[in-house]
Amino acid sequence: MTTARWYQAFAVREARGQSPTYEALAMAVGADRCATLLPVLARLPQPLALLEVGASAGLCLYPDAYQYRFGEDPRVLGPTDSPVRLTCAVSDDVPRPASVPTVVWRAGLDLNPLDVNDDDDVRWLDALIWPEQQQRRERLQAAVRIARADPPHLVKGDLLADLPALAAQAPTDATLIIFHSAVLAYVPPDTRRTFIELVRGLRGHWISNEGVGVLPELGATVEIDSAGPARFLLALDGRAVARTGPHGQEIRWLAPHEASV
Ligand SMILES: C[S@@+](CC[C@H](N)C(=O)[O-])C[C@H]1O[C@@H](n2cnc3c(N)ncnc32)[C@H](O)[C@@H]1O
Repeated sequence: MTTARWYQAFAVREARGQSPTYEALAMAVGADRCATLLPVLARLPQPLALLEVGASAGLCLYPDAYQYRFGEDPRVLGPTDSPVRLTCAVSDDVPRPASVPTVVWRAGLDLNPLDVNDDDDVRWLDALIWPEQQQRRERLQAAVRIARADPPHLVKGDLLADLPALAAQAPTDATLIIFHSAVLAYVPPDTRRTFIELVRGLRGHWISNEGVGVLPELGATVEIDSAGPARFLLALDGRAVARTGPHGQEIRWLAPHEASV
């Protein structure tokens, strides 16, 4: 088992339900998950208005500002001068994006939003990165520099009570994308079900990137490959499309029979 897997196993088996702080420490937070969202974001009608639920500091709200390499493909997507370079292993059938999305509006909702311009908040994010992961530490600092140049609109609030009001602020001439990544494990199953009903009633598209067991409604037919890191399930509008690595490190597209709800 790799060190990363030990941390994740610790988060799920030991910390969950006992210590949200230790669970967050073991799961970590940053821009890295953007790589697994990109193949879905890039296929939706552009431009996009992004609303992230459980956004933390909002670093996943800048998928257009980061650089990406998928698998062995030598092509690099995204701004050539971006200091954030994400690499992601992919199965052969993953639809490779032709370009990064066009984002015209970005907003986040979180019970405890973090401010990229507050040094203490950035130090907390840095502390969440595991000791040996220097590259992730460098990526975090680079993503913070990008966000500081154009800070996201972050609202302190709850994913049920406050989502409709924030969604209503999105421009109507862009495709609204409501997305969340590594968030719903922190709320009880009843709240997850109510959230699904809520988000399905809002306009736009819904992208979910959560642990495979977190929303059983979306992944009833999907099995986890215990040998690989892809333990998250990526879903578009309630339809599971891929298994993903929890830190954006891998995408494995689902076969058509697995992708049904
Ligand atoms: C592990 S972090 C994930 C952050 C970010 N989505 C990412 O991918 O790096 C989970 C976030 O969910 C937020 N959160 C948990 N419960 C919430 C709720 N009921 N409403 C809004 N945000 C919540 C936490 O404050 C935390 O910032």
